[in-house]
Amino acid sequence: MAPLYVLCLGLLLALPDGLLAGKGDVIEITDSNWSEILQGEWMIKFYAPWCPACQKLQPEWKEFAEWGEDLNVNVAKVDVTAQPGLSGRFIITALPTIYHCKDGVFRKYHGARTHKDFISFVNEKEWEALEPISSWFSPNSLLMSGMSTLFHLSMYIRYCHEYFVEDLGIPVWGSYAIFGLFTLFLGLFLGLLLVFVADYLCPTKRHRPQGYPHHKKLSPEAARILKQLEEEQDKKSADNEETGENDLSRVRKRTAKS
Ligand SMILES: *[C@@H]1O[C@H](CO)[C@@H](O)[C@H](O)[C@H]1NC(C)=O
Repeated sequence: MAPLYVLCLGLLLALPDGLLAGKGDVIEITDSNWSEILQGEWMIKFYAPWCPACQKLQPEWKEFAEWGEDLNVNVAKVDVTAQPGLSGRFIITALPTIYHCKDGVFRKYHGARTHKDFISFVNEKEWEALEPISSWFSPNSLLMSGMSTLFHLSMYIRYCHEYFVEDLGIPVWGSYAIFGLFTLFLGLFLGLLLVFVADYLCPTKRHRPQGYPHHKKLSPEAARILKQLEEEQDKKSADNEETGENDLSRVRKRTAKS
């Protein structure tokens, strides 16, 4: 008799919970489906499970989510510890961070963190008074997509480091050396690629004008003499321009002097 009673009580308690589930829930956003938020109106909080301020916000956010349907707003959350790409894309520097997004236009929420404030923010359209994030730094911009990739990469490097050290037993300095070498070669490779691209886009002149001195190929001594000659030539032509003399008259003048 007693187990049946417990079962009935359990069912009774579980029922409202089951009915509520799915409605007014906080929607989870991940690196792979974040673009869903570009349509419609969204309020998104960025949090980390370990952050005390986020834990304080959690019940308020849940309460707010229950109003979501009435307000026609999607209430969502992003766990930055699990979604590095999104924390890069939104440049999350403080936790928790709350964004408002309406049809791909983003605004940062700075108000008080109670469900009443969230509700009036959406209901009274308080967000209209806020300056939207400029298109360059908007999370759906090319720049921020690059940022997202960078964060992904850094996460990946950290995984690799942990794998080298913990699973392969490579000492920490060894792991750093691997990354150092990798960075070096990647840098060299990219540099080379850049030179090729630059050369392809604006090729250097293959045919230099006749008699153009190739200073680099000359010995230092020869280069010095050549430079001297050039300077003399320049000076001479400058003098000639000033006085209007030609070479012949200059030579005559010189011989007359001596
Ligand atoms: C994104 O993916 C997560 C995990 O797969 C899922 O729980 C969530 O409902 C998805 N969000 C949207 C907006 O589709």
